[in-house]
Amino acid sequence: TGKFTYDPGFLSTASCQSAITYIDGDKGELLYRGYPIEQLAENCDFLETCYLLLNGELPNVTEKAKFVKTVNGHTMVNEQMQFFLRGFRRDAHPMAVLTGLVGGLSAFYHDSTDVQNPEHRAIAAIRLIAKMPTLVAMAYKYSIGQPYIYPRNDLSYTSNFMRMMFGTPCEEYVPNDVLVRAMDRIFILHADHEQNASTSTVRLCGSSGTNPFAAIAAGVACLWGPAHGGANEACLNMLEDIQKMGGVAKVGKFIEQVKDKNSGVRLMGFGHRVYKNYDPRAKLMRETCHEVLAEMGLQNDPLFKLAMELEKIALEDDYFVSRKLYPNVDFYSGIVQRAIGIPVSLFTAIFALARTVGWIAQLNEMIGDPEYKIGRPRQLFVGATARDVTPIAERA
Ligand code: CMC
Repeated sequence: TGKFTYDPGFLSTASCQSAITYIDGDKGELLYRGYPIEQLAENCDFLETCYLLLNGELPNVTEKAKFVKTVNGHTMVNEQMQFFLRGFRRDAHPMAVLTGLVGGLSAFYHDSTDVQNPEHRAIAAIRLIAKMPTLVAMAYKYSIGQPYIYPRNDLSYTSNFMRMMFGTPCEEYVPNDVLVRAMDRIFILHADHEQNASTSTVRLCGSSGTNPFAAIAAGVACLWGPAHGGANEACLNMLEDIQKMGGVAKVGKFIEQVKDKNSGVRLMGFGHRVYKNYDPRAKLMRETCHEVLAEMGLQNDPLFKLAMELEKIALEDDYFVSRKLYPNVDFYSGIVQRAIGIPVSLFTAIFALARTVGWIAQLNEMIGDPEYKIGRPRQLFVGATARDVTPIAERA
């Protein structure tokens, strides 16, 4: 003891230097490469945001066209992937499937597995960004027993994803601009968030020199948890539970349960390790939520009304105010996705799709850092001191 600093949960330890994403939790500020998230969400699409995160600058028209063409060149997955998918039960959780599929990519693309080689990393980055929508849509189609819809490269990244999700061979999917824009915004808002649990996992995993697909699969696994990316699914499940209990009339009772520390119940979609004022992504997602519900004629959706009531009470209640607990992005993103027609169990997989670019940008940054070393935390040992083994027959 005394030799190492004890910092459970990394509350005060910076694990790296990074120039990608800046968060000021007190001001509620989020910048990707210096650009405010609000401006990116308003003026850019997801692929421009990917380019920015990967390269440090926004693309001009020519650079963007080239990047889109490169990504489009990799949207298909190896046909063998279908057999891999068939090994899963149809009711498997999409995050279980995605963890497997993403890790499995390393078995298909041998020319992009050397994380130390910049060319390998560059092509792995493009492959992962391009194939993620295809894999998520395949996981969904498999779960409902419909045929896979192959990517179409004349569509935008997000329209293509929506078509692979909702199109069928018998009926062409007609993209709805409001819904496509909402999904694109979900992607932009989730693209990176500095050293959160899954990103730190990707860095730690990648620091051993493992291949980029394996490192990103580790990120997918970490994101699954309800305290992290799984919060959007957990939040929607919570709203459905309150609805079953009796809806808006029971919100007060539910809040009392949350405030009782012995209940173990948390208000999902509330609170954040870094944002102690408000989550700027939540503000943007709230706007999108209103737009999407209006577009779908769902303004009177009971779950949305319930969410608004919960938000109202929680923002006034001393328990939440004194602990600086505000709605986070996932409080609204689940409602938006549900209105778009995305099943609840797929929410976190969509978060993973969006976060993939952030994970790769962070992995690239780490490998390119001359000071980078294999991540190897130390511990404060609190177990038994040295003692002798008693032969088994003599043990009490
Ligand atoms: N509901 C009720 N109480 C809460 C909540 C909540 N959602 N979040 C924190 N608290 C309380 C907690 O009990 C503690 O109280 P006390 O000081 O009396 O012991 C205090 O607030 C501080 O909580 P903490 O757990 O020490 O805070 P943290 O920074 O370790 O946790 C968090 C952050 C996001 C894990 C947590 O707020 C939480 O579990 N929220 C619900 C899950 C969620 O929405 N997660 C999504 C985060 S945003 C998406 C992403 O980036 O992944």
